[in-house]
Amino acid sequence: MHDFKLRRGQLYCERVAVNRIAEAVATPVYVYSHHTLVDHFQKLQRAFRRLHPMICFSVKANGNLAILKILVGRGAGLDIVSGGELYKALRAGCPPGRIVYASVGKSRQEIREALRAKIFCFNVESIAELEAINEEAGRLGRIAPVALRVNPDVEAHTHRYITTGTAESKFGIPLAQAESLIAGRWRALASTRLLGFHLHIGSQITKAAPFIEAIRRVGRLIERIRRRGMQIEWLNLGGGLGIVYKAERPQTAQAFAEAVLPHLLPLKTRLILEPGRFIAGNAGVLITQVLYRKETHGKRFLVVDAGMSDLIRPALYGAYHEVVPVISDKRQATSDKRQAYDVVGPICESADVLARDRRLPTLGEGDRLAILGAGAYGFVMASNYNGRTRPAEVIVKGSRWFLVRKRETRADLLRGETTPAALTT
Ligand SMILES: Cc1ncc(COP(=O)(O)O)c(C=O)c1O
Repeated sequence: MHDFKLRRGQLYCERVAVNRIAEAVATPVYVYSHHTLVDHFQKLQRAFRRLHPMICFSVKANGNLAILKILVGRGAGLDIVSGGELYKALRAGCPPGRIVYASVGKSRQEIREALRAKIFCFNVESIAELEAINEEAGRLGRIAPVALRVNPDVEAHTHRYITTGTAESKFGIPLAQAESLIAGRWRALASTRLLGFHLHIGSQITKAAPFIEAIRRVGRLIERIRRRGMQIEWLNLGGGLGIVYKAERPQTAQAFAEAVLPHLLPLKTRLILEPGRFIAGNAGVLITQVLYRKETHGKRFLVVDAGMSDLIRPALYGAYHEVVPVISDKRQATSDKRQAYDVVGPICESADVLARDRRLPTLGEGDRLAILGAGAYGFVMASNYNGRTRPAEVIVKGSRWFLVRKRETRADLLRGETTPAALTT
């Protein structure tokens, strides 16, 4: 469910016509619905209320400060993967006790920053990293709270680039290795405290079965560790809940909770969830404008002013995003008046195709399109490739809208660059 609806031929976000926003701030522009964001967060909260989970929104999905503040203000924690995201999380006012930190490559400096900030826990991805955290915590006179990110070797049945819990993936520690680490080497690591385990088996997972299998496997590990007399207090189930991009039928938060709770409750652990896409994905669209209509040998293209520098998912993952005209002309609404187009960006790369073979009405220069489902892994992956300025971001709340990030300027393209005279003489 989301709050982008066609009304009398116009696309609305909540009670604001998207076209009005595009007229005011130009295109490309990301538009997010405040209500959808909060609603998705609260649906998960309600579905898992028996366990009072800590729900840590995954900053990597959408790091806009206003979005982080909206969710933190509703009680969300944040899942971060870098010192930069730690900085943002703190600037968003997130209590450090609600920040969890994953990433296979935390630098020593990032580890120190997180220790000084007193985050809730490090999700540790390797033994070498655990030793580094232990050393840094020892130097600072702290005890680092740690969850081991285990790799349960389950197939998540999603795109191979967003599968993270199989044996050949770089993420996490194999279950057997985690067990022998806890039983052996860990005893010497005086400056860490084991809170529990972390899982994240992939993204855009539409069924509960892979999660259940992962819980079963980590559950057996928890049992064995407890038999050794050690406490395991927390289980972090990660993110990964799928959403509708095309015709997927992902589970609702309620159905997901009903499926996994019978496997979680017997473990008697506290629960952390790290959703990104589930909260933000369908809460945002990218608005773009047609520059040219072009026909070649039997192929039709709409060349638009947004490209892979603004939304890289189609080029990176072959991801599907629904494309709808922001204003639909009634005369052209019937499908027989529509023709198949590839919607392409202006970037000099063959991969710069936002949507292939879409039946769209005849559109011309200046007509606007909305690329749906762009609220997660959209702006955060935008770049300045081809000398392009990154787009603006807007949040709609009811009948009002707010610019929450200005479009970059040409000066931003040179920010931080210097050319010492010696190089040019
Ligand atoms: C460790 C971790 N947690 C949570 C997420 C969020 O995933 P999703 O947006 O699919 O919910 C990711 C995404 O890559 C991740 O790597």
